[in-house]
Amino acid sequence: MKAPRPKKRYVCQLCGSASPRWAGQCADCGEWNSLVEDAAGVVTPFSARHDLRGGGRRIELVGLDAEAALPERIGTGIAELDRAIGGGLVAGSAMLIGGDPGIGKSTLLLQAAARVAARGFEVVYVSGEEAADQVRLRARRLGLGSAPLRLAAATSVRDILTTLQGDSYPPLRSRTDGAAGAAGNCPHVPRPPALVVVDSIQTMYSDLIEGAPGTVSQVRASAHELIRFAKESGAALVLVGHVTKDGAIAGPRVLEHMVDTVLSFEGERSHQYRILRATKNRYGGTDEIGVFAMGDEGLAEVANPSALFLTDRGEAVPGAVVFPALEGTRPVLVEIQALTVRLASGATPRRAAVGWDSGRLAMILAVLEARCGLSFSTAEVYLNVAGGYRVTDPAADLAVAAALVSALAERPVAPETVAFGEVALSGELRPVAHAGLRLKEAAKLGFERALVPAAVVGERGGMRVSGFRTLGQLVDHVLGR
Ligand SMILES: Nc1ncnc2c1ncn2[C@@H]1O[C@H](COP(=O)(O)OP(=O)(O)OP(=O)(O)O)[C@@H](O)[C@H]1O
Ligand SMILES: [Mg+2]
Repeated sequence: MKAPRPKKRYVCQLCGSASPRWAGQCADCGEWNSLVEDAAGVVTPFSARHDLRGGGRRIELVGLDAEAALPERIGTGIAELDRAIGGGLVAGSAMLIGGDPGIGKSTLLLQAAARVAARGFEVVYVSGEEAADQVRLRARRLGLGSAPLRLAAATSVRDILTTLQGDSYPPLRSRTDGAAGAAGNCPHVPRPPALVVVDSIQTMYSDLIEGAPGTVSQVRASAHELIRFAKESGAALVLVGHVTKDGAIAGPRVLEHMVDTVLSFEGERSHQYRILRATKNRYGGTDEIGVFAMGDEGLAEVANPSALFLTDRGEAVPGAVVFPALEGTRPVLVEIQALTVRLASGATPRRAAVGWDSGRLAMILAVLEARCGLSFSTAEVYLNVAGGYRVTDPAADLAVAAALVSALAERPVAPETVAFGEVALSGELRPVAHAGLRLKEAAKLGFERALVPAAVVGERGGMRVSGFRTLGQLVDHVLGR
């Protein structure tokens, strides 16, 4: 029987969608000139091993009630990282971490790898982006120079897997012992690594298929082989992924499907804090965040993020209101700042929001106008979340409204006040999740009053709580009416 001729296919380098014909524009994502011929007759490690046309083996089918062990977790020793991934690295799982260039991905992973290695686990750190010397210099700067982790600069997946799968490792070679530890001379503990870090997947190259590193097919094939190794050996695999202009992980979306956990490392370059957030997690929730501050000695954990985002608060200024945001189960207090500038009639006023959705700002302005009779139509409106933090919590509506009214009327809200709640288009205030937790955190940080939706009033948490049924009542309160 003649083998069928492998069909050609073209893959978009941006979104990963495949089509049988070349076209100037990708039909899925609309990008121009992004279709590249994919290696013909792709040989995956799987199909190379198994002849799919032949008779297969019978697989065992089991019930849901069969015994299942909880996944084994390796704590990284960095509490903020463990919190974001749900309690530690899972053996035999793959994790992808993406983030802007220079945000600190390599730094975080080097620190985590060193901690895990220091606790006696076998850890291998493969850098495809930097020379071993560069990584060593960073380790020294971070004070991790003596951590017993194994470092390699490599980009060939075949070489990496050959090294990792070998039943003994070449012994560690450090500067001081020179060539004394040449491979083979001293017997070594044969054990698979507990943690393998690959920085980054876009630099990896698999010789099973053609194409330059970083192309969709290469990224997919390299990731596939590395992940298969992790699942078979029980190692925890961490891949670093580049991100595109808009912050999505570069390369095929399918990469995100292949791994068990996807983390994104975010932050403003101009601010020192960094937030680690899980966007997918097969072994835990995705609602917890890890907060770090970037300093000379690398990333430091921030156990109390509110202190970081609440800038020095002295005298009360109009337009500033503190909002207890909730990240997972952890409250983070941030200051919402609003500024309004009266315009000469005729000009179109600007509205700008930093750290908050501008669509939602427009909505709050509309509700204030339609339901409370406050007009912002002759004023420019600026809204800012202090510290460069990004608020996504809908409970910020009420704090934003209070800040806007306070700015417009030039009447400060008392400085020891927090505000939270959701504003409906009807002007009614809706309760939000975890009101008690928010109040408790605010009380802990010395706040004494809270402006909240009426339905919340039961949960005091040690504060003087004022409940409002409608936005109009809140406006009256802020205006002192
Ligand atoms: N000598 C130094 N002293 C203090 N901070 C430094 C020093 N060198 C680098 N940094 C900090 O570390 C950051 C770079 O971190 P890192 O290399 O871990 O980022 P990355 O996310 O891995 O970047 P890339 O995507 O380019 O690999 C810099 O942006 C800077 O803030
Ligand atoms: Mg890096």
